[in-house]
Amino acid sequence: QKTLTLLGIESSCDDTAAAVVRGTSGAASVLSSVVEGQTSLHAEFGGVVPEIAARAHAERLDGCVAQALSHAGLTLADIDAIAVTAGPGLIGGVMSGVALAKGLSAGSGKPLIGVNHLAGHALTPRLTDSPSYPYLMLLVSGGHCQFLIVRSPQDFTRLGGTIDDAPGEAFDKTARLLGLPQPGGPIVETEALKGDPKRFRLPRPLLDRAGCDMSFSGLKTALLRARDALVAEKDGITRQDRADLCAGFQAAVSDVMAEKARRAMALYIELGPIQPVLTVAGGVAANKSIRAALETVAAEFGAQFLSPPLALCTDNAAMIAYAGLELFEMGQQDDLTLAARPRWPL
Ligand code: KG4
Ligand code: ZN
Repeated sequence: QKTLTLLGIESSCDDTAAAVVRGTSGAASVLSSVVEGQTSLHAEFGGVVPEIAARAHAERLDGCVAQALSHAGLTLADIDAIAVTAGPGLIGGVMSGVALAKGLSAGSGKPLIGVNHLAGHALTPRLTDSPSYPYLMLLVSGGHCQFLIVRSPQDFTRLGGTIDDAPGEAFDKTARLLGLPQPGGPIVETEALKGDPKRFRLPRPLLDRAGCDMSFSGLKTALLRARDALVAEKDGITRQDRADLCAGFQAAVSDVMAEKARRAMALYIELGPIQPVLTVAGGVAANKSIRAALETVAAEFGAQFLSPPLALCTDNAAMIAYAGLELFEMGQQDDLTLAARPRWPL
């Protein structure tokens, strides 16, 4: 295979990102990766405001691309193709990215490739560790949660996923409920370290139901009840109460994911792969308790456990450039009719 250099562009949520990746399928490296977050822009609203996100992407995308190219020591002339997130995500942001990519493609004559954001996450282990297809992935972020068998850059089998909230969303809501700042995941994890996971016995939703689907919204309601009971009893919650609630919540999420991962593993192993691999990606993959639970499951099945470094697990453009590289190798190319798709299941 010919060595390819791809520019990647990502703007589907609240991170504006551009990156350059070089190599071949299963043997590529990141030359540069620029991510400009928007946490502070949305902080006072307690969540991502789509209009504010779209405006920030539109203002920042040009600069991110220029930086990614300059960090890689390249110009657009050195790029073989331009990959851009075409969905799913917040429509305003995705449109900004797609419009810029089309402009760059039309101006330079370089091929354009529209990439599914979820495919970007799902292919990240191939960029960092090169597992062979098919591998099993748990994709867990602020907006997504699904078990996927990744068979090729274009072929994913969804085994199940959340039927309500994404886990990251549940962590964020838990933090809000307990008066902790956003994003809640890292803070709830830190609090949980100081708490007793057994004091509040929170539910393990959907474990009695067959399959790999998960539910996290009931957990939040149970947490709310436990908190309100404490408040009614003694007029407030102590630091220890808060830590115990966080620990109980995190243990419940980890338990549910581990049990559902066992079921997903069993389905995946039936395919008869030579060397089974369980991978995890998305912002929630940062959570050590969840990672440890999944690692245990992988070991039970004699599977290798892979988790890309955090900077490539959370939203970034290197994963988009890399997915674009694999798709381009397979012959995918889009033209100027490429459309932004707010919804785009794998
Ligand atoms: O993948 P990501 O950066 O953005 C998307 O949602 O696409 O994921 C962000 C989510 C947030 O909900 C954040 O609270 C959660 O990942 N998160 C964590 C941890 N670090 C980030 N959740 C649990 N434990 C963590 N350590
Ligand atoms: Zn994402």
